[in-house]
Amino acid sequence: MVDLYPQIFKRKSIRNYDLTPLEDSVLGPVVESINKLEPLYDDIKVDLKIITSDNVNPRMMKKAPYYIAGFSEDKEGYKTNLGYMLQQMDLFFSANGWGSCWQGIPKPKKNILESSDLKFVILMAFGKANVPLHRTSTMEFKRKPLNKVSNIKNEGYLGAILEAARLAPSATNSQPWFFKGDNHVIHVYSFKPSILRAIILKKYIPIDIGIVLYHLKSAAEHFGKNPEIIFDETGNENSPHGYEYVTSMIID
Ligand SMILES: Cc1cc2nc3c(=O)[nH]c(=O)nc-3n(C[C@H](O)[C@H](O)[C@H](O)COP(=O)(O)O)c2cc1C
Repeated sequence: MVDLYPQIFKRKSIRNYDLTPLEDSVLGPVVESINKLEPLYDDIKVDLKIITSDNVNPRMMKKAPYYIAGFSEDKEGYKTNLGYMLQQMDLFFSANGWGSCWQGIPKPKKNILESSDLKFVILMAFGKANVPLHRTSTMEFKRKPLNKVSNIKNEGYLGAILEAARLAPSATNSQPWFFKGDNHVIHVYSFKPSILRAIILKKYIPIDIGIVLYHLKSAAEHFGKNPEIIFDETGNENSPHGYEYVTSMIID
């Protein structure tokens, strides 16, 4: 697999696209990349379809020429698994000159919803960008400082792995994650929203967690580690106030 880690520091959500139709053949590498995505949980069936804008109800959002419609089996961890998989596509698009943006608000039309046996989860828009594709500095990312999302000693490669997590995109940029641990294990926690905020956020938090897990994993691999994502009792027993334990990444 290509090293997508460098994209983490320059990617951005693209919402303004060139809508001129393209030859079907330009989608070849996109299809190939979709077929090679690595799941977080390999026992959950997913179905990722490329659809055009006439098959999407944009619901106030600007149209994109293409979307990936993500469908999944409805099983424990399914949203996190899909977040983990489609974030690989977000970084793939950035690496290959395409713009992309996660799209929670637009929905596929009925014919698309009925075309899969699996449950529709989310769309990701993509196409040729009408605006600059990349950020030129991490200062351009609107994100919480590292000490608000982690209490791990921020040094060496561990600091770089956490920085990759800090920069991950999330729905409404809520950054609903917290990291604890050391240079052997990073425990990942997700924010428990109040009842009111839960109405908007609850749907997306598990997807956001999948996204950040892929950033963590890709950064650890970039630094020559062999990370493994597992359930860890110690992590589970030490959740920070207002957060709940999700999973842990063993670094070595
Ligand atoms: C699960 C999810 C759903 C999102 N839904 C939308 C959406 O419906 N419309 C939109 O314009 N952006 C959407 N976004 C993009 C976020 O607003 C964006 O990632 C965040 O503000 C950070 O900005 P950046 O991606 O440019 O770094 C979504 C992002 C995620 C992860």
